Amino acid sequence: MERPKILVVGSMNMDLYVEGANSIPKYGESILCSNYGYATGGKGSNQAVAAAKQGAEVVAVGRLGADRNGEQLLAALKEAGVKTDYIVVDAQMQTGLALMLLDESGKYVSYVAIGANYRVCAEDVKRALDTEDFDMILMQLEIPLETVFQTYELAKEKGIPVFLDAGPAMQIPLERLKGVYILSPNEAETEALTGISVNTNEGALKAAKYLYEKAQPTYVILKLGARGALLYNGQEAKFIECFKVNAVDTTAAGDTFGAALAVQLCKGMKMEDAILFAHAAAGICVSRKGAQIAIPTEEEVENFLVERIGGIFG
Ligand code: RIB
Repeated sequence: MERPKILVVGSMNMDLYVEGANSIPKYGESILCSNYGYATGGKGSNQAVAAAKQGAEVVAVGRLGADRNGEQLLAALKEAGVKTDYIVVDAQMQTGLALMLLDESGKYVSYVAIGANYRVCAEDVKRALDTEDFDMILMQLEIPLETVFQTYELAKEKGIPVFLDAGPAMQIPLERLKGVYILSPNEAETEALTGISVNTNEGALKAAKYLYEKAQPTYVILKLGARGALLYNGQEAKFIECFKVNAVDTTAAGDTFGAALAVQLCKGMKMEDAILFAHAAAGICVSRKGAQIAIPTEEEVENFLVERIGGIFG
């Protein structure tokens, strides 16, 4: 498939990032940091931008407030070529805002004021699904859970595969996602979903098996940070290492990984190659600051792969 068509259903946030934190504050404590800035982000809009940059035709469903942050997010999506016709500007709500506290190694902790994302509903999704056809749906968990489950039901009726990037970390009734195409949490998200520590490879495998049993997806793909990814299909498990890069900001790396993986799978790339491709996309993302602004194009990923491993597979 030359140019897959992907529907992204998810959150849209303005990120306020504060850099240079060297510890997490206790109650009543202030920690002096260096710079701060604003970046367009949110798990859904990051994935929409990433999928578009990776060469897909992308339609986004989500909600923004009628405010300056919302305008900037809409402009960023349009600039990336994402179709925004189904995004609702909800005058009663504020645009979501994520406070991202970045440490010197590029890792973050964050608070998300969910705002308009809280009102993304199945009707919003239905408008897009009743009008257009899609090759895949990408979702995350930063919108109401009931909307996630109802979107999954609607997708099933239409036979559209769903890729669930299971962030942010929370416990959910996995049975309601039975048969999902891909279930892909990161380390913290896996621990929240399973109660199993993934600090060791044995732990990660145990958690992948647990997720497989509960949700019966086609694939479980655990994102294990600097350790790479674990692919499990119910029979075989494979750890796929990622590329070593100089990490400055891990924001949107997981979103980029999922979107790049989804696009390459739709284009017909083999699963293990597509994971390596997605590792390259996420590797470039963490070596740059910001959320959407750090996401590479497909061509940048290809060049990276030529540089690192001498070419592109597929
Ligand atoms: O996944 C990264 C995103 O999570 C950030 O852009 C932030 O908005 C939070 O939603």
